[in-house]
Amino acid sequence: MTSSNPILTVTQLSKTFAATKGPGTVALQATDLSVAENDFITILGPSGCGKSTLLRMVAGLDTPTSGTIVLDGKPITGPGADRGMVFQSYTLFPWLTILQNVCFGLREKGMALDAQHDIAHQFIKKVGLQGFENHFPKQLSGGMQQRTALARALANDPRILLMDEPFGALDHQTRELMQELLQGIWEAEQKTVLFVTHDIDEAIFMGNRVVVMSARPGRIKCDIPVPLAHPRHYSVKTTPVFTELKARLTEEIRIEVHKAAGLQAPAV
Ligand SMILES: Nc1ncnc2c1ncn2[C@@H]1O[C@H](COP(=O)(O)OP(=O)(O)OP(=O)(O)O)[C@@H](O)[C@H]1O
Ligand SMILES: [Mg+2]
Repeated sequence: MTSSNPILTVTQLSKTFAATKGPGTVALQATDLSVAENDFITILGPSGCGKSTLLRMVAGLDTPTSGTIVLDGKPITGPGADRGMVFQSYTLFPWLTILQNVCFGLREKGMALDAQHDIAHQFIKKVGLQGFENHFPKQLSGGMQQRTALARALANDPRILLMDEPFGALDHQTRELMQELLQGIWEAEQKTVLFVTHDIDEAIFMGNRVVVMSARPGRIKCDIPVPLAHPRHYSVKTTPVFTELKARLTEEIRIEVHKAAGLQAPAV
């Protein structure tokens, strides 16, 4: 589903990391991607195919070698509050409390303390962390720290949320809980999300489009709509639509993982 009115447009974007000697590493081949308002796009691909590089360039943390990224009609030239990031590793400020972490971006914007606290408390509640406002990150579990990171990103009301394997370090049950939580927030708040994952079930369950990237150097190999209704419940995982899509994506990824390893995928 490519919108005629995208909020984010990536055009012929590529990235080569320079090497001290030799030609450098091509991390991303010329790539186009069009993201519509309220899209939840999940990105799958073998390790090293450039998923994080793509997300980091959208975040403004890496500079493209060629191509452009335009958000709401404005070219991206660096980081900005219009993009909220959540990474796999816990990126909270360890010296700040949960409340102060969630307030961080609001404080940077110069918002009055009362207003910061009003907003932060709303999002702390949404992610189920009431009562932990005055705790420090190291006093929380991994899942709770990721919920804090999500609350911090959402509190800034970004135009787009950029999530790079945000649940990758969590155990299976906590991960499913986080998926449901984020689905619920996305359904209620209609956020636009770019979400990198290695987990095919997660990609289908969370996304309204699944983008598959080819082996290194990456490019977008296919962009598949997910025809599952909302609100989504875990029971969708046993429906024929889900299992057929999972079989297709498993095969697409299997081919790319073999390519990335320099092997040919055996026929099924
Ligand atoms: N700062 C950097 N300097 C040099 N090369 C880099 C840098 N960052 C990434 N690369 C290279 O670019 C390629 C793409 O890396 P990237 O981290 O985007 O892959 P990925 O798809 O996110 O992988 P994974 O699934 O393992 O997280 C890899 O070959 C990697 O070694
Ligand atoms: Mg990565």
